Amino acid sequence: MDRAAVARVGAVASASVCALLAGVVLAQYIFTLKRKTGRKTKIIEMIITDFDMTLSRFSYQGRRCPTCHNVIDNCRLVTDECQKKLLQLKEKYYSIEVDPDLTVEQKYPFMVEWYTKSHGLLVEQGIPRDKLREIVAESDVMLKEGYQNFFDKLKQHKIPVFIFSAGIGDVLEEVIRQAGVYHPNVKVVSNFMDFDENGVLKGFKGELIHVFNKHDGALKNTEYFNQLKDNSNIILLGDSQGDLRMADGVANVENILKIGYLNDRVDELLEKYMDSYDIVLVKEESLELANSILQKIL
Ligand code: TMP
Ligand code: MG
Repeated sequence: MDRAAVARVGAVASASVCALLAGVVLAQYIFTLKRKTGRKTKIIEMIITDFDMTLSRFSYQGRRCPTCHNVIDNCRLVTDECQKKLLQLKEKYYSIEVDPDLTVEQKYPFMVEWYTKSHGLLVEQGIPRDKLREIVAESDVMLKEGYQNFFDKLKQHKIPVFIFSAGIGDVLEEVIRQAGVYHPNVKVVSNFMDFDENGVLKGFKGELIHVFNKHDGALKNTEYFNQLKDNSNIILLGDSQGDLRMADGVANVENILKIGYLNDRVDELLEKYMDSYDIVLVKEESLELANSILQKIL
């Protein structure tokens, strides 16, 4: 685990200390609750997680790793000219996404603009559905270290995992399928590609999910959350300020532990992240902390 990992619970702590602290804090929370109500709860009932740069790596050996979108942007089927345009869009809009001086409200319209332009360009490229497997296999996308343990443990304990991503659902599913961790307890909500009768990309299905409208998407998934028996104890994983509202559609949340992965513009964003996430991990490329908590409470 990265040495720069910090936890809100007590300024700067070593990785193992923060894992332990977080686990203990959460367990104590819920045990106290259990004693008070006499109700039998599982300690953790659901994981709600972002995908790009949360479950997937931000960087590996000093190089940036691709998001779901970048997996397509960088593939052989996209022309050089289109790649250049997509890169220009990324340079402009990613800076806005992580700009510490803009509010979420100010960033919002720019994200809509980014997605609209970038999805438009991808559609022009006529990506075939049957190439997606190959595109993902040939890409540099990587899940964070410890992903196997994370997904397998949650499967073993039948804990629902809700992956809520403003990336591309088809790519995301292919990544976790190829990694062998797309277990039946995993549900993916994202932007899914729409193909024509020849299996060629013609658009995206449903309403757009972008970085800062996840609260709307969450509210549209209340049915999924309701059908799960008990949602009162949740772990939420994210890397963006927009991810904080991924549990907005869940009723009766009693305890939610929010773990934030801060990857970029660290100095300027750290305070904001520490104010909004319960635990903040800086430039962390493993799921070790989440795994330690699961190990302790499951
Ligand atoms: P996430 O919700 O799983 O983190 O996915 C959203 C990320 O995708 C967000 O950080 C912005 C990024 N993105 C690209 O990398 N390229 C694009 O063209 C677009 C529209 C978004
Ligand atoms: Mg993300």
